[in-house]
Amino acid sequence: MKARVTAHARYSIAEIDKRLYGSFLEHLGRAVYTGIYEPDHPSADENGMRRDVIELVRDLDTPICRYPGGNFVSAYNWEDGIGPKEERPTRLDLAWHTSESNQVGIHEFADWAASANTEMMLAVNLGSRGLDAARNFVEYVNHPGGSYWSDLRKKNGRADPWDVRLWCLGNEMDGPWQVGHKSAAEYGHLANETAKALRAFDDRLELVVCGSSHSNMPTYPQWEATVLEETFEQVDYISLHMYFENYEKNPREYLALPEKLDRYIGTVGGVIDYVKAKKRAKNDVRISFDEWNVWYHERKNDAERMKSWGWPHAPALLEDIYNFEDVLQVGCILNTFIRRSDIVRIACIAQLVNVIAPIMTAPGGAAWRQTIYYPFQFASRHGRGTALQLDVDCPSYDADVASGVSYLDIAGVHDGDAGTLTFFAVNRNADEPMEIALSLEGFGSARSVEHTLIKHDDLEARNTEENPDTVKPVTQGGAELSDNKLTLTVPAHSYSMIRISL
Ligand code: AHR
Repeated sequence: MKARVTAHARYSIAEIDKRLYGSFLEHLGRAVYTGIYEPDHPSADENGMRRDVIELVRDLDTPICRYPGGNFVSAYNWEDGIGPKEERPTRLDLAWHTSESNQVGIHEFADWAASANTEMMLAVNLGSRGLDAARNFVEYVNHPGGSYWSDLRKKNGRADPWDVRLWCLGNEMDGPWQVGHKSAAEYGHLANETAKALRAFDDRLELVVCGSSHSNMPTYPQWEATVLEETFEQVDYISLHMYFENYEKNPREYLALPEKLDRYIGTVGGVIDYVKAKKRAKNDVRISFDEWNVWYHERKNDAERMKSWGWPHAPALLEDIYNFEDVLQVGCILNTFIRRSDIVRIACIAQLVNVIAPIMTAPGGAAWRQTIYYPFQFASRHGRGTALQLDVDCPSYDADVASGVSYLDIAGVHDGDAGTLTFFAVNRNADEPMEIALSLEGFGSARSVEHTLIKHDDLEARNTEENPDTVKPVTQGGAELSDNKLTLTVPAHSYSMIRISL
């Protein structure tokens, strides 16, 4: 199979916001306890945080981390996580039916985020609580001093405010499973009033209002229209979520799902434009795709187990073990975000450690990279700069979810400062290798090329504690560059990163 691709310096989509490569850590399962925090672990630092995990997160290079939920945040009292640890209450977490010891709260997470070289994106509880708890939390986190909450932060050991700019106004408030679920009108009103209060405190905050939990939600996309009509002038982003499933084990259908993601983004972009025009608004609202990932491997088992497990503390939950096929999927999802980077400014892989995550840990034992760690790391590290509008000519196939699905899924990024062009390419074809002819126009002279490949003959191949390197990238020879024309052949069902120095 052959594909012709042209990249031209003048045809660009947008400057990519580095927060497109954000992540997410929820008080859920073992994400926090025995994930990032394990005081008895041999690698624990003075705060009880696992250094081995911090290293893997630093290596992933994720610029923001959303916290503390997720569904968890909708019944969370942020004040439970401050002050002397021995005085913090154990609470029942209604979202996941577990016990929360509150040994990690905002101070511990903030210190961890600094060590892991990532910035905080925080969520307030608009489920069981509302405006007042939200404004107090923001004051605690961001006010320099001289007020009740900021002085309490100082008393609790943190003199300087953290100055967190990015705040989520609740989580998935369209979902009937959410504690404190609301109708679009109810939530829109509450989110707008909360946003006004937070802006009265600091107009520089960036606020994210909840959109739909999935494009399959019965309220989608009217939810977006109603919520934005209430909040448009007070918010900067609307949040979308999507998880990818492969219960049928059908790679053609599975790998076509990013087309659905693309439509979802396009539709919500249309709703944003409609509401902006209707309100004669001057400001822009963009998309924060702050939960996305593959989630199905353990989902049904988890739902069964949760029915009868009481209130355990930090049980194994949502511990999907990813396979090689998921590398291809995550590559296509990230490519979709790059191609939509004009409107998707923020995106967060859900989640970061142990819970549907690129990083896994064993309590008291090792930490290792899941298969999906690599495409995420490559995009995060090398997908920064200007997203390119590529011209792609390649055979396609029809799937149930979309027609005309290109066998080659490709995105390109030009980093003018570094003098590089990077292409991320997935061959969706199960049977045939793909000969790619890539023309580079208007970038000056291309000097050298490096091709990194992720390929395994078994779609089910996984990385485990015992065999952490079953699926991993290799540097590949064979790409030829001559006169700004690149040719290379990528194997059937494979992920490639192609880096060109200019
Ligand atoms: O990431 C797991 C859960 O998925 C989150 O808590 C929730 O927001 C979503 O439904």
